[in-house]
Amino acid sequence: MKTISIVNLKGGVGKTVTAVNLAAILATDYEKRVLLVDVDHQGNASRYCGVNTEERGGLAALLTGGAVCYDEVVEMATMSGVDVIPADMSLATLGVDGGCTSQMAVRAMRDLRDAVIEDDSYDFIIFDCPPAFSQASIGAIAASSDVIIPLRIGRFEIEGMDELIEQIESVRKINPATRIAGALLTMWHNSPVQRDGEEYIRETCPVRVFRTMIRRTDKVDEAVFARKAVAEWSPTSAAARDYRAWVEELMEVL
Ligand SMILES: Nc1ncnc2c1ncn2[C@@H]1O[C@H](COP(=O)(O)OP(=O)(O)OP(=O)(O)O)[C@@H](O)[C@H]1O
Ligand SMILES: [Mg+2]
Repeated sequence: MKTISIVNLKGGVGKTVTAVNLAAILATDYEKRVLLVDVDHQGNASRYCGVNTEERGGLAALLTGGAVCYDEVVEMATMSGVDVIPADMSLATLGVDGGCTSQMAVRAMRDLRDAVIEDDSYDFIIFDCPPAFSQASIGAIAASSDVIIPLRIGRFEIEGMDELIEQIESVRKINPATRIAGALLTMWHNSPVQRDGEEYIRETCPVRVFRTMIRRTDKVDEAVFARKAVAEWSPTSAAARDYRAWVEELMEVL
């Protein structure tokens, strides 16, 4: 069983789209059993997957003890073969109102992972993290075997990499087995600044940069609106082919 956190402190770099499409491709092309966990109070992954927290409470219920076991909060995504633990705004106030400390979140995420291993219920858990080190995201990273960093080429995104890697390293003190599988360039398009940025990142990035880059295409936004994986919505689109090629590359290094 692999647990993968999709992490970047920068917003809008493609974390959620990567998390959901990774989950969908693992389920359909590789016939893996996948649990996607929305760790972000924005609930974007939940919305993309067409699920909500209304009936069972989602991740917040699991972190605060409202649900005893993960299977009480699992919902079915619109992407075939993908199960989801959804999230909502209540995750944002966990620490303030819910008395949930980082240590409690770390324990709850590890309990989730260990229960899935014991039950042999999934082959992959994928955590879609928020653009911040919240209690829940620290817990997710600490429970993960691998971290993937989606990265959009831009000055602020590139300059934020060192701090991000430092922060992930500090979580590795809780779980030294967590490793950064690599950085994934997203929303790439052929322009001088993108090409220069790519070259700069490949030369200077202290972690692996995946060969495959995800190209920018409106088909991604369309797929999000349709609540479908890009590979299902538009199988021949650039992003669909790129995500498939990247998952193949990822499977070689996991
Ligand atoms: N390859 C792509 N081509 C075009 N648009 C994309 C691509 N990947 C993501 N997007 C769009 O960019 C926006 C941000 O993507 P996404 O929500 O995945 O980022 P995020 O890092 O999860 O953001 P946040 O930090 O707010 O959670 C979305 O509107 C999404 O549809
Ligand atoms: Mg997101």
